[in-house]
Parts: sequence; structure tokens; C-alpha cells
Amino acid sequence: MTSRRNPSNRHPGDGAPTQAPRVEFEDTTPYDAYVRASTLATLQKTATDEPGEYMFLVLSQIMELYFNVIAFEWRTAQRFLRTDDLGEALLALRRSRDHFRGLNASWVSFTWMTPPDFNAFRERLGEASGFQSFLYRHVEFLLGFKDPALLRPHKHLAGDHYAELAAAFEAPSLYDDVLAYLDRQGYAVPQAVLDAETNATHEWNEAIEDAWVQLYADNGHGTPLREFAESLTDIAEEFSDWRYRHLMAVRRTMGAKVGTGGSAGLAWLEKSLQRQAFPELWSSRTRI
Ligand code: HEM
Repeated sequence: MTSRRNPSNRHPGDGAPTQAPRVEFEDTTPYDAYVRASTLATLQKTATDEPGEYMFLVLSQIMELYFNVIAFEWRTAQRFLRTDDLGEALLALRRSRDHFRGLNASWVSFTWMTPPDFNAFRERLGEASGFQSFLYRHVEFLLGFKDPALLRPHKHLAGDHYAELAAAFEAPSLYDDVLAYLDRQGYAVPQAVLDAETNATHEWNEAIEDAWVQLYADNGHGTPLREFAESLTDIAEEFSDWRYRHLMAVRRTMGAKVGTGGSAGLAWLEKSLQRQAFPELWSSRTRI
């Protein structure tokens, strides 16, 4: 449609014709066919009309989607590390760091919620707890936290989800691929670590700390290997931030009550916060 103020039908300055978007479609919109917003909008079935519950459910779903995209990027980074393509691996790691920042920013939505707001719907959650999130657990497995007990809750998931989670438990973690790559770059990782079963939690190792110390000594700012180490540090920090923001949301809304998942709640989460992803990358900093 030609605008009265802009009879030439052009954006002032850019010379391109302005054309209104298409508004008539014979079927559903191509946008909805692609994004499936109409399906997404059916997934917020709350048990109450409480604003806290609606927000809690939507934010949980948003976070689940972020877990998925982060895991996708880490699998991408692993694929490129295995072919020694550090440039592409680095891009995937940086993307995942930015996704983490988006994810962590969404905790802001919880800051208004007081204990009475949470109590208004908490009982309706029954035994449901984020502890049972299989997508979060997938992220943890990729980071190298592998406790077999944490596979068990997901045994009866529908579809291929359990099989995929179990495969991630058995497969090398992102850190396993990082260490194999470091070794190939001349930063020796003990053979016993490279050959170890990949279905166990990575244990701190002094020789790996030595490798990081050496890598920082050899590679200055802006070099690919330094950027690699720093991207991994960013990721570990963003992950800790997620846990910390979660802990504070718990502390704000339910104090030290027992969790709906049956844990001691705050105390259990504080202990979990102590576990550090990529431990030698952190401990090496004392010696650098
Ligand atoms: C006010 C909001 C929230 C409260 C009070 C809360 C409470 C808790 C508690 C008490 C636990 C410990 C396990 C249990 O006994 O239930 C837990 C674990 C967990 N929650 Fe939440 N949660 C909240 C929001 C969320 C959201 C939005 C997510 C996003 C999906 C989430 C994901 C998780 C995960 C992944 C765990 C397991 C952490 C681990 O294994 O270290 N939580 N939550």
C-alpha cells in the first residue's frame, strides 16, 4: 500500500521500495508451520490461576530449550575437536557461552516471587522437581559429571530420550574431547586418563593441571589456544552462575524447606554448587 506521507512507496533514505508483509494465507502461516507456536502455546497447562505458577512453568520450559541448544553446541564443538578444527570448535563454544548468558538472564523473572507466591501453587507440583530434568542431566554429562544414579529417574521417559541420555552418559564428555585435543597439540595428558572409561566423573589430575599451566605460558592473548582455554573457563563460570542463580531463587522462595524432589533442598543444592566443571583449568590458575 502506498503511504500518504511517502507517496513514492520508498523508505526515506534507503531507496528500496517498501512493501507491506503478506497477510493472506490459504493454510496456517508459514511462520507457525515452522516455529509451531500454536503447539508451543498448548504446553502451559497449569493447575492453578496463580501468576507464579504460570511463570514457573513457562520459565522452566524456556530453560529446558536452552539446555537443548547448549548441548547441541557442545556436541558440535566435540565433532570439530575430533578433526582438530579448533576454529569451528571455538565458534561453537562461544555460541554456547552466549546461550548460557541468555539462559542465566532469565532468572530475573523469579526475583518478584515471595514465599507466599510460591506456596500458592507449590503443593500442586506434587513430586515434580527440576532434579528430574533429563535435558539438564544431559548438559551435566557433557560437562563430565557422571553419576550413574542420576540416569535412573529417566528410565521410563517416552520416545528415544532415555536412550539418548544413556548414550551421552557412556560417550566422551566435552572435557574428554578437550583433553584428547590438548594431548594432540603437545600438552601431554596421562595415557591412563586418555584411555579411561568415559562413563565416570572426571577426577582432578595434577598432570592435566601442568598441561594448562604450560598452555597459558606458551600462548598469549588472542592466540587460538588461549581463546580456547578462556572459552572453556567462560562456560564453566556460566554453568556455576546458573546453579548459583537457581540456589538464590530457591533461598528466596522456599528457604530451607525440603524439596519437592525429596532432597534436603538448599543444603543439597549448596553441596552440588561446590562441584566444578573442568577442575584443572581452575586449579592451574593458582600457579599461572
Ligand atoms: C522458585 C523456583 C524454584 C525452586 C524453589 C526450585 C527448587 C529446587 C530444589 C529444592 C531442588 C533440589 C531437588 C529437590 O529436592 O527438589 C531443585 C533442583 C533442580 N532444579 Fe529447581 N527450583 C526452582 C526453579 C527451577 C527452574 C526454573 C528450573 C529450570 C528447569 C530448575 C531446575 C532444577 C534442576 C536442573 C535441579 C537439579 C540440580 C542438580 O542436580 O544439581 N529449577 N530445584
